[in-house]
Amino acid sequence: MEATTAARINVNPLSAHTGAEVLGLNLLDAFGDAAVKELLNKAFTDHSVLAIRDQDLTAPQFHEAGQIFGDIFPQHNSRFSVPECPLIHYISNQDKFEDGRVYIPGEGYHTDHSNDAVPPKATMLFAVTLPKTGGDTQFINMHQAYDTLSPAMKSRVGGLQCVHVYQSKYSERKLMTLPGERAKISTKQVIHPLVRTHPVSGRKSLYINPIRIESILGMEDAEAQELLGELLEHSIDLKNEYRHKWSSGDVVIWDNRCLMHKANGDYPVDEVRYLYRLMISGEVPA
Ligand code: SIN
Repeated sequence: MEATTAARINVNPLSAHTGAEVLGLNLLDAFGDAAVKELLNKAFTDHSVLAIRDQDLTAPQFHEAGQIFGDIFPQHNSRFSVPECPLIHYISNQDKFEDGRVYIPGEGYHTDHSNDAVPPKATMLFAVTLPKTGGDTQFINMHQAYDTLSPAMKSRVGGLQCVHVYQSKYSERKLMTLPGERAKISTKQVIHPLVRTHPVSGRKSLYINPIRIESILGMEDAEAQELLGELLEHSIDLKNEYRHKWSSGDVVIWDNRCLMHKANGDYPVDEVRYLYRLMISGEVPA
């Protein structure tokens, strides 16, 4: 008897704490298969980053595959929509700021769209074109970052609430302006706890975002920025990192609730790096 699709799948950890590769799966076969859906969602919770190897997807197929993990979240900046499937966006090193500088989306550590009242639980990318070398994505495990804080720091940050905006005035990284009606998003503030609890695993993590957190309730900005800087330094220690080196055909999904990530623009600008991107709806951080 032929093995079921789920039985043919291998999930191999990529580091001691974060990331696993998924082999033996064609995502196009998985959408209607409850056993595969369960296996992938459990692997996602257990490893926080999944690299599903050897895929070959159009934008609409990527959109279908994303729904294995939940509902698709509408992204904030619609100028990056893929025309044939607007809920899918692209990541590309070929766009420029108004002043002509190359725009590398996702440079600098962050977690996606934390300026939303209900931020996306996950982001998923599909590598369409990759540079010959470089362009890795770095992930920081924020459960580990929280777990390794001193008891005094845990009690200091425990009840703190942070104000997130589209772009913090303290952010070193500049974002593209939002077009038309979407510009309203950039004036909204939302409040999220600095320490959040993962809704599936129950583990605590630091929920910080250098580009979006502008202040901490009840604290002077100078003190808040100093504390956030200290937490960032503590978090980005190499022992908390998984660094993904992309291979052609990789679909990578990560958990925004317990990771920060950043892109690297460390390859020649004439080499194209182009990926499809979608996000999966989440829940109110608590
Ligand atoms: C992102 O921050 O969503 C993009 C990450 C990448 O391009 O590696």
